[in-house]
Amino acid sequence: MYVHLELKWLDHPFSFNSFKIRDQKQLDTLLSLGLRDVIYVPEKSDVAPLPPKESPVPMAESSPMLEVDQLALADKKRRIARVSKEREAIQRCEKKFVGVISSVKNLMRNLMARPEESIQAADVLIKEMVESLLADRNIAVHLMNDKIAGEDVYYHSLNVAVLAMMLGREAGLPPEEVSLLGMGALFHDVGKSRIPDKVLLKTEPLNHAERALYRLHCHMGEEIAKQLGLAPRAIDIIVQHHETMNGKGYPQGLQGGKISRLARIVAIVNAYDNYCNRTNPNDSLTPHEALALMYSRERELYDSKLLKLFIKCMGVYPPGSIVQLSNEAVGMVVSINAKQALSPSVLIYDPTVPKEEAIIYDLTEDPDITIVESIRPNLLLREIYDYLSPRKRMTYYFDERTDGAKANR
Ligand SMILES: [Fe+2]
Repeated sequence: MYVHLELKWLDHPFSFNSFKIRDQKQLDTLLSLGLRDVIYVPEKSDVAPLPPKESPVPMAESSPMLEVDQLALADKKRRIARVSKEREAIQRCEKKFVGVISSVKNLMRNLMARPEESIQAADVLIKEMVESLLADRNIAVHLMNDKIAGEDVYYHSLNVAVLAMMLGREAGLPPEEVSLLGMGALFHDVGKSRIPDKVLLKTEPLNHAERALYRLHCHMGEEIAKQLGLAPRAIDIIVQHHETMNGKGYPQGLQGGKISRLARIVAIVNAYDNYCNRTNPNDSLTPHEALALMYSRERELYDSKLLKLFIKCMGVYPPGSIVQLSNEAVGMVVSINAKQALSPSVLIYDPTVPKEEAIIYDLTEDPDITIVESIRPNLLLREIYDYLSPRKRMTYYFDERTDGAKANR
């Protein structure tokens, strides 16, 4: 039977307020709550309830929580502790992100005036990121809040660098290559500084002349990068990040293996970030749609092994996806463990829990609960939208998993 409890989430030991009763243990726990009413949902149940007994089960007179199965309650307490740990991890990660993005802004602004100093600062920043990415730890990719994830080009550069380095790590690149990848990714669009804003910021499709001008940013980037003294392999990324495997990319129309592997990585994450974060946010795809489009309709453009690996570490429902779970709950994927992308952490909409304390549910905890589909944020009811606050921009940063249990699984 599928039941709904009219209790606050914190006042019962179950994972959700609505669920299908799976075994006798759950039934015993449910009975121990001493509830007068449990709502039965026929359309989601496999069986009908038995007829009521003649002498009803005596009601517990004390507070329901006193009677609850102690084991189940201890489990719930652990879960609550884990939720607050997860929330702390996201906040810690956002704090780190704020520090990193301000360094990126500074060095980009001073790039031409103080090139040596700026490149050195970038180098230090990337090396630090590589160090924490490659240390033998379990890394989680978190979704950043819109309030701290601004809208300018620096965020795109950092986002691409973060995702590229993560993909490079999963592809087994050695640390020096991940560093080169990070530098190339951070500066991949540096040539755009020489392209007029009216072309860069145009939301309607570009005309022929504008497109030709836009495409010059790869070679302009190469020129700038040479002046700055970037490593040749990082410069390759800047020149080649719009090349495609089928040879129909630009500026040179290079094919397959002629494109550097590092540039092939950046091509994938750059396309993903551009789909998720359009100049006009209304045109953006959801993270799930972006991956689905790249995989189903653009596969010939990307290195297929790397694309599969990217999907494997972002999950089919990357952070930022609004999802419907198999138990009818609706939530937003907030972080993902790069090694276990099929079981992300999902922030759950539950009107009985205050928004600031929203439950973050780790899908590895319950094998019965899975993601059924992704939902476009604009299709959500107003109250669910306000509760989940879907991001207008998808900005990611990483952090090591502190939850030892999960890291060892
Ligand atoms: Fe570009």
